[in-house]
Amino acid sequence: MYSLILTLHHYVAFIALILLAWATLNGILGSNSEKVFEDKHRKINSFALIATHTMLLLGLILLVVSPVAQHAFSDMGAAMKNAEARKAVVEHPFTNIIAVVLATIGNAKSKKALGNGRKFKVSFIFYGLALLLILSRLPFEKLFSF
Ligand code: HEM
Ligand code: HEM
Repeated sequence: MYSLILTLHHYVAFIALILLAWATLNGILGSNSEKVFEDKHRKINSFALIATHTMLLLGLILLVVSPVAQHAFSDMGAAMKNAEARKAVVEHPFTNIIAVVLATIGNAKSKKALGNGRKFKVSFIFYGLALLLILSRLPFEKLFSF
């Protein structure tokens, strides 16, 4: 169970990061242009949201089943003093939950926003912030070790 969820959390991470970057880029390119916010832009936003929510679900399961998390939670005081454990079970999950919330708000707001420019700008700001937060606490060394 643990290794399956960890593997999924590892590979879906690439999909989520690419889709978030794509949604952000669409937002940047559309913000100050005459571009029309088309169905393909809405779909990329939706796929980015689905991928990040999938990461959330997998991440929450990891917090329960991961031996790394179980060990850390058994002595939280010691875990907080250990930079690696603190990053894995506190900083990374906490920051990413905020990022998922931002992406969710961004998706809803971009749907409701009036005007193409607003839709792009909202996508840029919320998906961009979500991506920045995720990158700030991403274990790159683990992401690129197979
Ligand atoms: C722990 C797991 C999850 C939680 C807590 C969660 C929570 C939420 C919340 C609060 C919303 C906002 C609803 C609204 O706009 O009023 C939402 C929307 C959404 N979620 Fe999740 N979600 C989870 C997992 C998933 C998964 C696994 C998927 C897909 C594989 C998914 C797909 C979506 C989609 C597509 C929407 C947007 C609906 C829309 O466009 O209005 N979620 N979710
Ligand atoms: C889109 C957002 C996210 C990305 C890109 C991401 C990416 C990653 C990556 C690359 C790893 C290392 C995997 C490995 O060792 O092979 C990891 C580990 C982990 N992630 Fe995430 N993650 C995200 C969201 C979350 C969320 C929302 C949570 C919790 C609510 C979470 C909880 C964890 C935990 C607990 C681990 C450590 C598991 C272990 O080493 O046993 N992640 N994440």
